[in-house]
Amino acid sequence: MVMAETKNKNQAYLEMDDKYVNPVLSRSARIVAERASGSYIYDMNGDAYLDLSTGIAVNSVGHCHPKVVAAAKAQLDELMHTSVTVHHKRYIELSKKLTEIAPSKRLDSVFLTNSGAEAVEGAMKMARYVTGRPAIINFRGSFHGRTMFTTALTTSKLYYREKYEPLPGSIHTALFPYEYRSHFRGQPEKVVDEVFENIDMLFHQFVHPEQVACFLVEPIQGEGGYIVPPQGFLPRLRELADKHGIMLVIDEVQSGFARTGKMFAIEHEGVEPDIMLMAKAIAGGLPLAAFISRSDLTHKWPAGRHGSTFGGNPVSCAAALATIEVMQEEKLCERAHKLGEMMMSRLKAFAKGKDYIGEVRGRGLMIGIEFNDKDGGPSKELADKVAERCFEHKMIVLTCGNAGQVIRLIPPLTMSDSEAEKALEILEKSMTF
Ligand SMILES: Cc1ncc(COP(=O)(O)O)c(C=O)c1O
Repeated sequence: MVMAETKNKNQAYLEMDDKYVNPVLSRSARIVAERASGSYIYDMNGDAYLDLSTGIAVNSVGHCHPKVVAAAKAQLDELMHTSVTVHHKRYIELSKKLTEIAPSKRLDSVFLTNSGAEAVEGAMKMARYVTGRPAIINFRGSFHGRTMFTTALTTSKLYYREKYEPLPGSIHTALFPYEYRSHFRGQPEKVVDEVFENIDMLFHQFVHPEQVACFLVEPIQGEGGYIVPPQGFLPRLRELADKHGIMLVIDEVQSGFARTGKMFAIEHEGVEPDIMLMAKAIAGGLPLAAFISRSDLTHKWPAGRHGSTFGGNPVSCAAALATIEVMQEEKLCERAHKLGEMMMSRLKAFAKGKDYIGEVRGRGLMIGIEFNDKDGGPSKELADKVAERCFEHKMIVLTCGNAGQVIRLIPPLTMSDSEAEKALEILEKSMTF
């Protein structure tokens, strides 16, 4: 979706962008960001945009948090890059920190990468190597990245896959419990039962469970539509994984780092992953990602079997250490929970009696609003219209969902009460038809 063009000072740059930037790179809002601070992005005219997109769930501590900026600047003066030639202390400190905040004490061994997709790739290589099994089971509606292998693992939209065939194989896709669009809407246990019947069918028709290295799943689907699976789905998946010696890989790239009111969304389910993926908000805006696992597993993966030139860059690691400190000092889990509850209950009250708003859902400050057409089907048209209207009111929101029918709200967790109030007012105006 491309929004209305803003003329004047942005214009010269937008024209250069049109000329020099590969047009495959789509941007949601047609403004040129000059600077950003807290909850706002400022364009080249000096206009302030309230940012409920946070660079797709990255700027969770707000744009350019002073502590994160200071840590990165100090690190720049000290050490910028080493790669795998030598050890460096920020990599080691951050690895230790990630094991301390991980949802289980048994997750005690860390590998750092540059992007979420690279973390997924590394984790898939590890799962195959360590189990000696080829197959991976992913879920319908998932998003795991844009590299060739993660494209094969992504099923949120055909648009991300078509014309890239042949894609890597040995990937089998199970149903995800998307209750709102299920024929068992209102019966969450049946929605979950259907998923496990579907996996059982995969085991009988496509791949023997002993050939499966891992299940790869988002604890809350992001790009797929901000879909929270019914309680019980993830614990049951853990049980099934254990029964067959299959690893459970949890993708917290979008849901992690306090976004849902806990440091990681999987904590809401009390489930222990074998591998957990982290990225996006980890370094407050600098590129960094990670996967964490158990040392009894990682020690089965010999040195040099995987690596990265830039992964675990010292400046990104310093920013990540500062970001995690900010999240803890400013109690951003509690903040996400409290503000999320407030926003969600107000949005639910607003949606009452409006058939075109199908569902308001989410956890913490990971909130999705799903729109319906006249027949109750998914409405991209309405979601786009709402996003456009928000932009006219100088607020940036993104859409998601298999048909683009969901508005996703991913504000900074540091957003003030008055900013939240302003965001809700703009949303309510924009969602009035
Ligand atoms: C759940 C999930 N996994 C993986 C990725 C890929 O991350 P990146 O864009 O950093 O490669 C994304 C990106 O949106 C994501 O939401």
